Formats: sequence, structure tokens, C-alpha cells
Amino acid sequence: MNNAPIAVFDSGLGGLSVWRELRRRLPRESLYYFGDGEHCPYGPKPREEVVGYVDEAVRMLLDRGVKMVVVACNAATAAAIDYLRVHYQVPFVGMEPAVKPAALSSESGVIGVLATAGTLKGRLYRETAARYAGRVKILEAVGDGFVELVEAHKEQTQEAVDTVRRVVKPMLDAGVDRIVLGCTHYPFLTGALRKVIGGRKVTLIDPAPAVERRVAQLLDEKALSAGEDHEPEYAFFTASDEAYRQGIISKSEQALLLDL
Ligand code: DGL
Repeated sequence: MNNAPIAVFDSGLGGLSVWRELRRRLPRESLYYFGDGEHCPYGPKPREEVVGYVDEAVRMLLDRGVKMVVVACNAATAAAIDYLRVHYQVPFVGMEPAVKPAALSSESGVIGVLATAGTLKGRLYRETAARYAGRVKILEAVGDGFVELVEAHKEQTQEAVDTVRRVVKPMLDAGVDRIVLGCTHYPFLTGALRKVIGGRKVTLIDPAPAVERRVAQLLDEKALSAGEDHEPEYAFFTASDEAYRQGIISKSEQALLLDL
């Protein structure tokens, strides 16, 4: 038994799509959310630069006594998960686009993967995509402008629908029936995505539930679960300013209400 908090880390607000799943399914666990905000987006930045930002945040979270770190950011996982596992003792849970469930369930044989440039270039993703490339056709696209829309709290706007349409329409025209949301910001654009998808039979795949299952399994295996009567604490941190931190808090409340 261990009542220390679990850290959830992202370049910005996107990791709240994972935080929400953890908060719902693991109601006794304290959660410390860190949304960098100052250096977002990570996707287009060089690997070494991203490793530096992630390392700084993880040190701060470890200083606050977290028992596990969920890197709720595909781009940060691609850049830094190996580094983190070598340098620190706590368990790390990373994220990778959910190509496997999409490939195994696709009926049309064509799947789409939406992610940032850093994730699509990363070793983890390239290996997974290569494994399923014989089974399905994989269409990849960088969600240009998606992260910025979510960071600006503009996901419910016409601009969001237009931005999503530009990226997703070619995939839809090519017959995808599964779209993998390979960036934790993207589930916040589910409304815009559904508008663009319209009446087509396309399933969106968000890896947050799989990440929560992995966290639950590790808590169990390592005897790290919080006690039965533990009152959870939810705290929010950022490398940016207080206004940004308040934005994280309001988005976390919104995330709990939304059907992402
Ligand atoms: N939310 C992050 C992810 O899952 C990326 C956003 C960014 O580019 O910083 O990849």
C-alpha cells in the first residue's frame, strides 16, 4: 500500500484526456498533473530538446514524492521514455499510438493514424507500424494545428472543424474505418472529428483506457495502490504561468463532463 500521488505529465493540456480516465477508474489515487505549457508543442521539436523539458518536469515531480509517472504524451514518450527508465527508479508508463487494436479490428483494411511529427518519426511507432503494415494499409497524418486549437481552448469552434477536415478528409476518402488518436490532445477534438466524419462508419481509437489498465496492473504488481480509506488529492503544476495553470484546472473539470 502506498498513498503517494501518481504523476501525469504532458507538454500541455492534452494529458488531461488520460488524467480523466485515471481519475474515473482509480478514485482512491492522488494525481499530480504537470502540463508544461511553456514549451508546447513538443511534436515538431528536436528530440534532445524535448528530453530536457521532460527531465526537468520529472525531477520536480519526483521531488514531490510521486510513486509513478504516466507520460501522457506520445511525443514525450517517443523522445524520452528510454532516457527516463535508465535515469530514475520509479515505474514509468508511456504512450504509443494504438495501431494494434485498430489494425486487428479494421474491416476495410485501411486505418488512419493522427499524431505529431515527433511521434510518427519515433522508433516505437515505426516498429509497431511496420509490424501491422502487411495486414492493413496505414495512412499517417500530422494533425497540423490540432494541439494549438486545444491549447487555445478553441475545440468547439468552426475553425476546429475546418482544421480537422483539412487533415482527415483525405483519410476518409481513402476508406479508413479506424482512426487512431496518437496524441493526447486529439480526444478533445472528438466533436469536430465526428462532424467531419459525418455518417461514415469510422471508429475513433483513444488509448487512454489502455493506459489506465496498464497503470492499474502496475499498481497491483508492485503493491503501490493507495489504501481503501485514502482521500485523494488532485494538484496541478506547470512550467508556464498561473493563468495557464488555471486553464489546466478548468479543462480538467470540462474533461470530466465531456464524452471525449
Ligand atoms: N499531447 C502530446 C502527445 O500526445 C503532444 C502535443 C505536442 O506536440 O506537444 O503527443
